[in-house]
Amino acid sequence: MFSREENELLTRVGPSTAMGNLMRRYWLPALLSEEILMPDCPPVRVRLLGEDLVGFRDSNGKVGLLDEHCSHRGTSLFYGRNEECGLRCIYHGWKYDVEGNVLDTPAEPADSDFKRKLRHTAYPCREVAGIVFTYMGPQEKMPLFPAYEWVSLPDDRMHVVKSYLQCNYLQGIEGDFDSSHTTFLHCNNLADLARLNRDGAPTLEAEESDYGMRAISIRQLGPDKSYVRISPFIMPAFSIVPGPATAKFEENDSRAFRFWIPIDDTSTWFYILTMRDMPFSAEERASARSWVDAGYRRIRNAGNNYLQDREHQKSRSYSGIKAVIPAEQDGCATESMGPIYDRTQEHLGYSDKTIIALRKVLLRAARSVQEGREPPHIVTDPKLNDFSRLRAVKGVLPANGSWRELPDLEQGVV
Ligand code: FES
Ligand SMILES: [Fe+2]
Repeated sequence: MFSREENELLTRVGPSTAMGNLMRRYWLPALLSEEILMPDCPPVRVRLLGEDLVGFRDSNGKVGLLDEHCSHRGTSLFYGRNEECGLRCIYHGWKYDVEGNVLDTPAEPADSDFKRKLRHTAYPCREVAGIVFTYMGPQEKMPLFPAYEWVSLPDDRMHVVKSYLQCNYLQGIEGDFDSSHTTFLHCNNLADLARLNRDGAPTLEAEESDYGMRAISIRQLGPDKSYVRISPFIMPAFSIVPGPATAKFEENDSRAFRFWIPIDDTSTWFYILTMRDMPFSAEERASARSWVDAGYRRIRNAGNNYLQDREHQKSRSYSGIKAVIPAEQDGCATESMGPIYDRTQEHLGYSDKTIIALRKVLLRAARSVQEGREPPHIVTDPKLNDFSRLRAVKGVLPANGSWRELPDLEQGVV
């Protein structure tokens, strides 16, 4: 059973918490590039791991992420003037650059050296794949930016969307390592009841790896074949899930890297970065974000009961939620657990095997940092910084074949 102490340890992410310290050791998505598209555009509020920040793009196009509250007397820099390579507080004109240097304190006497003594909290940023990443950990421990597949993929081969989730990040990411729910929650055709009987209870395996863990699910496809799906969990809260089962199982043309990023203990930004080997059209890009509004809030949310249609639930789909993408149905399942689910109340079964393994990996990593040891997947050696072939895998095997024989695995993909 999961203890109260373990639940607290994994779900609290603010400054100085164990999980917060762990998360701060990695580059994390902070916002989308499109939110601050042009130099000197209006700044945006960014809340991340319980810290209130302001993101802005300076006159040279450089992105900064500053503590929201002015070092002088705390006025919000969200209202600031973004001009001439810095963000200026509207109260007394103090001006900051993207690195947190105080460039100007115009209300002070000309000979004041205030500005040289002060440094405003600023986190380093890197823009990759339409996402602004930041590093909020100790300066001397800053890792290399891991070279995942999307780091070097042309822009037209990917698109990204983020969406707000009104619950703790762990509830979200646990869904990615919960293979059996797909059969039920995401069943959009009740006529396919045979499918429910066939693959509702897959065989599960979990294996730790240097980047985190891989979760394996195996479903029988009849007497002589099985269907295998393998999903990597990547430290500290990222995942790759295989695309939907297709007629040609070996065809995995579209793949999604998913980031579950705590805004604070009870809310999450969920980023989906979708990639494939062919360019995406403008229509495909628009449709990929048609389930969120301009502020990245979900159209189907707790406030409208996810627009659940009881008639549809009777006649067509298992959930009654007519989703554009499965994440909308996931949102109902995970948000309705409450802001931070009390895991001492759950009853875990065999189907939760990979979730249990995921929690173990996270607990061990959080405790490592607490005890002054290094957590997994902190990339420091440029020669070992190649994760371009880290992918989810799906495939068909002979009934008693091992998932290790999948051809992609032999090529070292996962
Ligand atoms: S509070 Fe910002 S300049 Fe005074
Ligand atoms: Fe799901």
